[in-house]
Amino acid sequence: MHKNKENRISNPDNLSHNVYNDSDFARLYANRIEYNSHNALYERPAMLSLLPEVRDKKVLDAGCGPGVLTSILQDKGADVTAIDYSDEMIRLTKERTEGKVKTINANLNFPLDFLMDNEFDIVVSSLTIHYIRDLRSLFSEFNRVLKINGELIVSTHHPFLDYSLHSDGNYFETELLKDDWSAYNIEMEFYRRPLSELFNLFKEADFRITELSEPQPVKECEINYPDTFKTLSSQPWFIFFKAIKER
Ligand SMILES: C[S@@+](CC[C@H](N)C(=O)[O-])C[C@H]1O[C@@H](n2cnc3c(N)ncnc32)[C@H](O)[C@@H]1O
Repeated sequence: MHKNKENRISNPDNLSHNVYNDSDFARLYANRIEYNSHNALYERPAMLSLLPEVRDKKVLDAGCGPGVLTSILQDKGADVTAIDYSDEMIRLTKERTEGKVKTINANLNFPLDFLMDNEFDIVVSSLTIHYIRDLRSLFSEFNRVLKINGELIVSTHHPFLDYSLHSDGNYFETELLKDDWSAYNIEMEFYRRPLSELFNLFKEADFRITELSEPQPVKECEINYPDTFKTLSSQPWFIFFKAIKER
């Protein structure tokens, strides 16, 4: 794994994850996450297990990617709005949901002023917040668009994992790090925040965390990907927060 000594947080506007706009990458990503270990047999089941009943609920999927979770939510009867800043991801989401879900091409680093106050019952965001520079502002926007008692469910890289694999800096600082995504032949940049910082960001945005999950992969992972199963069962990879809007 690549270790990045440089902390480039002062120059955050040209991150490598603009690669999500590349149509070849987006298609490859979309195909992989449907069946792979980390998304299909670890992240997604954990995310689904944290969801409340979504039927007839207004749900915002922030950073929808190719729309895999979006379409599951749609199938479960939710009224979903899906946001991503990648044209290609939005196109794939529209394709997957047969154009029946509201999609918005927007950058989560900016105010979501195209969404109304108290519009949603649930906000979900899978594996996206580590790309966001100003998470305080985004969480404040999530709070604004949620109804009182609405729920925010977020998954992200586990900070201990990112620290041990990719950082040789100070755990207690927010860092911009790089990971070598060799399966895609790219280096992906992302932010790592200490756990206490993540907790405080929820709190400052008037969310109360009701569940924190460091999940295990599902049984099928052991059958299909025994080596990865061993890794994911013995070290945290992703972390999940479920939080409620208190005010
Ligand atoms: C790792 S993918 C996760 C996609 C999807 N949630 C899933 O779990 O399959 C991260 C997604 O976040 C999107 N993204 C990253 N930064 C973003 C930003 N600033 N605004 C909107 N979307 C962003 C990317 O385009 C990509 O689709």
